[in-house]
Amino acid sequence: MDLTHVRKDFPTVRKNLGIYLDSACQSLRPDQVIRAMDDYYENYPACGGRSVHSMATLVSVAVDDTREALARFFGTSDPECYIFTKNATEGLNTAAFGLGLKKGDAVVTTDAEHNSNHVPWQFLKEGIGIERRFSKSGKTGEFDIESFKSCMDKRVKVVSVQHSNNVTGCSVPVRAVTEIAHDYGATVIIDGAQAAPHMAVDLKKIDADIYCFSAHKMLGPSGMGIMYGKKEVLEKLRPLTVGGGTVGLATYDSVSLAPIPDRFEAGLLNYSGIIGTKAAIEYLSAIGMDNVEKWDSELMARAMKGLEDIKNLHIVGPEQPGKRCGVLSFNIDGLLSHDIAMMLDSMSKVMIRSGMHCTHPFYVSRAIDGSARASTYIYNSPEEMDIFTGTVRKIAETFGE
Ligand code: ALA
Repeated sequence: MDLTHVRKDFPTVRKNLGIYLDSACQSLRPDQVIRAMDDYYENYPACGGRSVHSMATLVSVAVDDTREALARFFGTSDPECYIFTKNATEGLNTAAFGLGLKKGDAVVTTDAEHNSNHVPWQFLKEGIGIERRFSKSGKTGEFDIESFKSCMDKRVKVVSVQHSNNVTGCSVPVRAVTEIAHDYGATVIIDGAQAAPHMAVDLKKIDADIYCFSAHKMLGPSGMGIMYGKKEVLEKLRPLTVGGGTVGLATYDSVSLAPIPDRFEAGLLNYSGIIGTKAAIEYLSAIGMDNVEKWDSELMARAMKGLEDIKNLHIVGPEQPGKRCGVLSFNIDGLLSHDIAMMLDSMSKVMIRSGMHCTHPFYVSRAIDGSARASTYIYNSPEEMDIFTGTVRKIAETFGE
């Protein structure tokens, strides 16, 4: 497997602007995505779904085309069920606050969720008194199906879990989780932000009720996310934001909601973002998600090999490269993660992320301050991994304890 040929499509790679290992935060974009967005701004910069003039019609058609591309990519036949949001966080909030949960209803998450799939439930616990239950992960963050099963009973109304973790890379067997949750009549929500960019996701097979992810982690434009929901679930979900575009008819004292997807997409949308998302999906489809996954795993294997004999370095999460989903988190004795990140940048132009990665409860429960995190994607090369590991070695030997 060799994906190095794709590097020519990425402007910051061509310009040699540094080694980008922060794709779990936001990915780089290829020319194809940038051109699609420029084309919108230069040739049909109107709004979609409202005006009937020719330029607006081009936008409306492009928006529909993106939904169709998403449905093909994720293996479903219901394009209208792909709702445009600004990120996975907005989708998860829409789901959490829209389900109409009541005091005493139980919600199960893992104990290693991103804040996007933790804070909304915490708000609902404090606000209306839902009960929270946590499926306990193993020491390195691996999902434990027995712990999950022990959380389940008829009081559980929602199971909301990450598909893959953005610190450890550990994946949840979402098909099995969905099956168990449905046996108890619970609604299943999946945070796919880290998984969707890195593996083939078949939403029909997973059978979750709602699946949220961000396009900007999968070559798409900034501030673009998608909430997929089964039609019958979306029809019962109360929108989080309402106003223009979301209603069939509003009078002084009544409102009827517009059909799906419009009722969830209030106000003017990020049209260039939607159009860029289609280009991103097409780019990934041409490569094939199985190839994306293999490349991530090869890069990870190379990086982990390069780090394995550094005595004062500790990996956060499993040590098997195939389980990392493109994220490599680590600490060096005696150094703060932010210092490691700054040194990598100033010594070798290697850009990583540091801190708690918005996954605070995971770190707090393990009494770790945070970690350095290198995250890969299709445009990274084996040589870049060597520069990264060589620089980490120098940092650990020179400045670590
Ligand atoms: N959740 C994103 C990350 O892991 C922002 O960096």
